[in-house]
Amino acid sequence: MNGWHYIGSLQDIPQQGSRIVEAGSLGNIAVFRTHGDQVFALADRCPHRHGPLSPGIVHGDKVTCPLHGWTIDLATGAALGADHGCTRPFAIRNEADGLYLQLPVNGD
Ligand code: FES
Repeated sequence: MNGWHYIGSLQDIPQQGSRIVEAGSLGNIAVFRTHGDQVFALADRCPHRHGPLSPGIVHGDKVTCPLHGWTIDLATGAALGADHGCTRPFAIRNEADGLYLQLPVNGD
């Protein structure tokens, strides 16, 4: 699982939407695409009550959780505003031949 993993093309993800990558013991990772075609990857777990972030609405470089409306910074996974908590971010690269997600050794 170590290293960079090809996960498909940018076009596989709707603008201002996401797709899920199943990452074994790491759980599901939500890969988000912004209106401006930036990509970000976060554990698909809201820091509030652990609902999935992947169905959330992407606006700018943030996503709003569909369950209770917390806003999460896509780059850091941190809750914004008055809310506190953080979901795990993963490194992702958008290359000419597609997207590459970095997964750690041994699920660390
Ligand atoms: S589970 Fe995301 S805001 Fe409550």
